[in-house]
Amino acid sequence: MFKKLALTAATALTLAAGGAFAAGEEGHVEDFDFSFEGPFGSYDQMQLQRGLQVYTEICSSCHGLQYVPLRTLSDEGGPGLPEDQVRAYAQQNFQVFDAEEDDFRAATPTDHFPANDSVGAPDLSLMAKSRAGFHGPHGTGINQIIYGMGGPEYIASILTGYTGEELEQAGTVLYENHAFPSGYIGMPPPLAEGQVEYQDGTEASVEQMAKDVSAFLMWAAEPKMMARKSVGFVGVLFLVVLSVLLYLTNKRIWAPLKGKKTPA
Ligand code: HEC
Repeated sequence: MFKKLALTAATALTLAAGGAFAAGEEGHVEDFDFSFEGPFGSYDQMQLQRGLQVYTEICSSCHGLQYVPLRTLSDEGGPGLPEDQVRAYAQQNFQVFDAEEDDFRAATPTDHFPANDSVGAPDLSLMAKSRAGFHGPHGTGINQIIYGMGGPEYIASILTGYTGEELEQAGTVLYENHAFPSGYIGMPPPLAEGQVEYQDGTEASVEQMAKDVSAFLMWAAEPKMMARKSVGFVGVLFLVVLSVLLYLTNKRIWAPLKGKKTPA
């Protein structure tokens, strides 16, 4: 029974891997530095706000973010917008379909970001966690705990990885991109120098916008990362203290017998 299961699993894995690699060589994922890497890393609030701006002004015209509730924009550890700003932001930028009114209305903080399948672009809610887990710049294992799992690096690499070459295939244009696994992606280069105007005065270079929006998408995919890390830290600390206590207790319990010669 077990043998059969193991075989099936092995076959499935081979097939899945074959499917992924058949498309072509792996893309090259650049290693970008992010503030949230490492066991104590945390999101940079200003960067998340800049990323939100890039998403809103550029990406949202093709990509949805349908699993992210708008109200979380005011969460601590996230972009941290004041609640009235979130309300204004939702109202100004998004229309949602209201089944009760049978019509579109302006979004409110209780809505999610809308979905968007106008051009068949994938939803970005979980993109930062669904990509590059096994072929990011750092591989797997301990490296991922220290340097991150490569999802935001992958997104930033895609956004900065265009070579400028195009290829027309069966009526659709593909753009050469050396971060995308097949080498050609259906998304036209979304970013251009100075495309958004940052309020905090940061210069909007392509790389800066790519990093900011990637950081924002990482937060969208894992909004509770900082809480998770601090709980993990307390857990490890607790285990260390417990180990020391157990060691001392053990010594004490066996102390009367230690060092005695066993009777012949
Ligand atoms: C003009 C429409 C358009 C805009 C604007 C756009 N995208 Fe895309 N994007 C697409 C399409 C279409 C695809 C699917 C491409 C494919 O699978 O070949 C895609 C795919 C992606 C992917 C997935 C790559 C993968 O591994 O499947 C990511 C990540 C992405 N876009 C991020 C972004 C970000 C971030 C922005 C904003 C800076 C953005 N996109 C702006 C149309 C767009």
